[in-house]
Amino acid sequence: MAILDKHKILETNATLLLVFSFLVVTIGGIVQIAPLFYLENTIEKVEGMRPYTPLEMAGREIYIREGCYVCHSQMIRPMRDEVERYGHYSLAAESMYDHPFQWGSKRTGPDLARVGGRYSDQWHVDHLRDPQSVVPESVMPKYGFLEHRKIDGKYIADIMKANAVVGTPYTEEMLANAQADFRAQADPDSDYDGLLERYGDKVSVRNFDGQPELTEADAMVAYLQMLGTLVDFSTFTPDASR
Ligand code: HEC
Repeated sequence: MAILDKHKILETNATLLLVFSFLVVTIGGIVQIAPLFYLENTIEKVEGMRPYTPLEMAGREIYIREGCYVCHSQMIRPMRDEVERYGHYSLAAESMYDHPFQWGSKRTGPDLARVGGRYSDQWHVDHLRDPQSVVPESVMPKYGFLEHRKIDGKYIADIMKANAVVGTPYTEEMLANAQADFRAQADPDSDYDGLLERYGDKVSVRNFDGQPELTEADAMVAYLQMLGTLVDFSTFTPDASR
């Protein structure tokens, strides 16, 4: 029997074809996926990456709650048009503390992976309150309520603990000081030395939304202004040995 005739048995028997297809996909899957669990360097370590501060983490939670990811991606692909518009393509390490990641699957608005530092805090506050006030043709909804919702970081340590369980290296000290650090980052008159000691002195400490109260807008702007700023691309060189 020629090999093609043998194949005919498979092609004319739906159940057998299904079983064999499943086998092939399983083997292929194992070959591709299993090594990733054993490789030390699936994600190339990159200088500058650090866990999010409590306030940034709160902003990230609000970002997820409000579904910003439905319209915004956080992944710059290594294609020329994207790199020219948004900056250096995203590295795997840049999402390493995102549980879950915020790559997104659709861009109604622009990619936000490197939006940090691109606009002033005031621009973000105005834009969140009324996007059309700064970009008249915008179809982004209004999020003005964020600046009226006060937050106190009461549960932020729990969120950080949950992230620690899945691998974000929050130390005991970071968890113990979570609420204090949360408040300190939005208050330049506070004692924020501990915050900088724990998360690095590049952390921005300011009154992000310009109001005396600590609100969800503070957390959101702190998060947005941090996006894409952790890795210094003027000194970054990809590891070419792999
Ligand atoms: C219905 C889709 C939609 C949703 C949901 C949405 N946006 Fe937007 N966003 C847009 C569009 C469209 C633009 C481009 C026009 C503009 O700047 O307003 C934009 C622009 C932006 C920009 C400016 C980006 C740049 O590089 O100019 C930021 C920052 C932003 N959005 C943040 C957010 C945040 C934070 C949320 C969630 C609270 C959110 N967006 C939800 C559609 C959306």
